[in-house]
Amino acid sequence: MSEPLAKEAPSAFALSGRKGVMKLLSGLSVEARHESRLVFAANPALFALLNLGRFVGPVRRIPRLGWLITDPVLARRVLSDSAHTSLLGEGGVGHLWAQLLGDWVNDAFDGPGHLELRERGKDLFTDASAKAHVARVFHEPAIRLADKLRQGASVDISEIARIWVGRMVADLLGLPIRDNRDDSEFRSIFACGERLAALAIGTIGSTVIKPEVVTEGRTILEQLTSGVPEAYENADTSTLLGRCREAGIPLREARGLASLLLVAGTETAASAMGRGVALLHDTGQQHALFAKPDLVPSSVREILRVTSPAPLIGRHVTSDIDVSGKTIRAGEQVLMLTYTANNAAGRFDIGRPHDPKIRQLWFGAGRHLCLGAPLARAEITYLLETLMAQQRPWRVVRRRASRRVIIPAYAELIITCGPEKPPLRGGGRRGETLVGTRVGNGHA
Ligand code: HEM
Repeated sequence: MSEPLAKEAPSAFALSGRKGVMKLLSGLSVEARHESRLVFAANPALFALLNLGRFVGPVRRIPRLGWLITDPVLARRVLSDSAHTSLLGEGGVGHLWAQLLGDWVNDAFDGPGHLELRERGKDLFTDASAKAHVARVFHEPAIRLADKLRQGASVDISEIARIWVGRMVADLLGLPIRDNRDDSEFRSIFACGERLAALAIGTIGSTVIKPEVVTEGRTILEQLTSGVPEAYENADTSTLLGRCREAGIPLREARGLASLLLVAGTETAASAMGRGVALLHDTGQQHALFAKPDLVPSSVREILRVTSPAPLIGRHVTSDIDVSGKTIRAGEQVLMLTYTANNAAGRFDIGRPHDPKIRQLWFGAGRHLCLGAPLARAEITYLLETLMAQQRPWRVVRRRASRRVIIPAYAELIITCGPEKPPLRGGGRRGETLVGTRVGNGHA
């Protein structure tokens, strides 16, 4: 660690130690504390890095790690600069993918092949199609969830999110399902996505993965996408693979895309669903939402901003680039700390207007902007609307963070719906960022 940096941010270096974490958490509000615990439990090094990002300024080089960017506008600029950066070289997620899926990724996930794939795939998920898709896939389990809540039962929202997202993946990939009401089938599909994503643990510093990890990843992918060729041939155009075929996306790319959806769209979406329910509870803002249901879209946006389930995005620099007066050299890596950048805007507030500086940085930016963004938004919305249809506020009765995972999440989030009708006005304190500003009056 460089000397001047150590002077600027002494506390940041102690953050991964227990004492440092306790000190940091003690100054935060209840929701920020819960969120911070999730990040720490997922990966203490990630927790330290995201917090370090608060002290280093907008652009900073950290030895052995590369460049950190914490300013949302600069982050978007780098992500949109495909002339100087790539996600294929070391530091980018495409580098991981090429090792797992093969060299064809180098064409399909950047450069002209990627442009063509995105162009053909631009209508795979629109807000309208995602909404209809989610309603079709989530309808049946949502009825069961609503029944349980109505009967006063406690339910594990994290597990429900994993099962619902597993359903979505099964649908997208055209996987054969024996019994549509058997949640365990969908839970194990989700678990495959988790195993696949877990292969990326420990790649913050380097995206080179070991040969045995490559073999494991290929085995999981082979297993999960074995049904793709048949579904691609026969599926109708209401399904993703049917739409891929109609859009002229070749089978190999469609299979690759299916693999990508599995990794990119499982843990991220489920994490946001569980954490969103917790945030609305912990801030008391579920009451404001009950009073004004048209705040659902801004609540979803705020859940995505504050949780930023993909907390950082890496790029490989292909030719020298100037970022805010600093020259980043060809061959170096850049990490956009999107979690830090997004949270610097302030505390969770469902009334927060769209922020033109951040836009939707939680979904990335530029040519790799999340393809599944409409689907993710529709999934979170459907869960919130299912809970709100109860007309009774929910209470978190127990929670536990997932440990050693790539995406911070609740392993367990048990809620129950109270008997009372929601009050017309909601609480929630303002003026604090999640990993940012401290307040002195956080309650447990
Ligand atoms: C809350 C949920 C989600 C978040 C926060 C999220 C975030 C992101 C981010 C930050 C990127 C850009 C990565 C980069 O530039 O290196 C990305 C790309 C991508 N995401 Fe998502 N994602 C989510 C859900 C989904 C879902 C549900 C799907 C589809 C089922 C999906 C499919 C993709 C794909 C295919 C890409 C690659 C796009 C490309 O390279 O052109 N994501 N996502």
